[in-house]
Amino acid sequence: MWYFYGFVDKMKMKWCVLVLLGLVGGGVSLSENCRGEKPRLRDCDNVCDKDGNCKIRAALLLPKNTTYDACLSVVGAVLDLAMNDSVIKNAFPPWLSVEWMKYDVTDCDAAYAVISAIDAYNDCAHVFFGPSCDFALASVARIAKFLGGTGTPLVTTGGFTFDFVKPKQTCQDEFYMLVRAGPLGFEDLAYFIIKLMDVFQWKQLLLINEPEAQVHVAGKSTCHLMMKTFANFLKKEDILYTPWDTTSDAGLNYTENLKFYLGYKYTNSDGVEQRCCTILKLIELTWEIVAVSY
Ligand SMILES: *[C@@H]1O[C@H](CO)[C@@H](O)[C@H](O)[C@H]1NC(C)=O
Ligand SMILES: *[C@@H]1O[C@H](CO)[C@@H](O)[C@H](O)[C@H]1NC(C)=O
Ligand SMILES: *[C@@H]1O[C@H](CO)[C@@H](O)[C@H](O)[C@H]1NC(C)=O
Repeated sequence: MWYFYGFVDKMKMKWCVLVLLGLVGGGVSLSENCRGEKPRLRDCDNVCDKDGNCKIRAALLLPKNTTYDACLSVVGAVLDLAMNDSVIKNAFPPWLSVEWMKYDVTDCDAAYAVISAIDAYNDCAHVFFGPSCDFALASVARIAKFLGGTGTPLVTTGGFTFDFVKPKQTCQDEFYMLVRAGPLGFEDLAYFIIKLMDVFQWKQLLLINEPEAQVHVAGKSTCHLMMKTFANFLKKEDILYTPWDTTSDAGLNYTENLKFYLGYKYTNSDGVEQRCCTILKLIELTWEIVAVSY
C-alpha cells in the first residue's frame, strides 16, 4: 500500500474544489423525483428565502477522529481558508453566501454516516461534502438521491472502490447524485499494475494483503476493498493472481507462508530467463532515460 502516500495530500487539497454550481436558482421546474413522485419541497429547500436572502447550506460529513486523513479539523480548516480566498469569493455572486455545517461521522462508520446525513437534511443542507470512507460513503450515496426535492448532491474525494466509478447519470444508477472529486481510484491503481505487468511481460502475481490496514485512507477494510478492485480488473485482463490474506496465516509465520504461496511458480527455468530479460530491459530503459535527460 506504499503508493498511497503521494496522493493523500493532493486528496486533502481537492476538498477546496467547490462544485456548487447548479444549486443556485432554487425553484427550477421539478417534475419528478427519483421515486417517480412530484417533489415535496420544504421552504428551506430553496436557496433564497422570502426576503431575498440567498444562502447555500453545505454539510460537511466527516469524522472528528483525526486518525482519518479526511477529518473535520483538517478539511474544515482548509475549507475556511479556501472560502476566504479572493478567487473563491469572486466565484460566487455577491448576493449569495455559503454556510458550512459540520457533522461528526463517528469513526467513519456507515451507520453514523447515515444518521449524520439525515441530521443534515433536517437542517436543510443543499449539498453534502463527504463522507470520504468507502463504506460510509456507499450508505449515504445510496439515499442522497431521495433526500430533498430531487436529491441532494454529494461531493467527495473518497469513493475509491470500482463500484463508485460506474456511471451515475440517472435515478436507476446506484450512486446517482454522487460526484467524485478525487484524483484517483483503486481502478487506476489496478491499471497501473496491469501496465507494469504488460511492459515486463509478466503473467502472474501474488497479491499480499492485510485487509484492515490503511484505515486512515478510506476507513474500514480499505485494503480489502482495494484487493477486490484489483481482482476485478486482473480477471478482466486475464492476469493470473493468487491472493494471500495475511490474517489467515494457518498458524504459520510469514517465511513459511511465503514458501507456501510462492512455491516454485515463479522460479522455473522460464521464470529465471524472464527475470534476466527483465533486468536487462530495466537497465536498457534506465540508460535510455539517462540519455534522453542529457
Ligand atoms: C479513532 O479511530 C481509530 C481507528 O478506527 C480508533 O482505533 C481510535 O480508537 C479512534 N479514536 C478515538 C479517540 O475515538
Ligand atoms: C477569514 O477572514 C475573516 C475576515 O477577514 C477573518 O476574521 C478570519 O480569521 C479568516 N479566516 C481564516 C481561516 O483565514
Ligand atoms: C518460521 O518458522 C520456521 C519453522 O518453525 C522457523 O524455522 C523460522 O525461524 C520462523 N521464521 C521466523 C521469521 O520467525
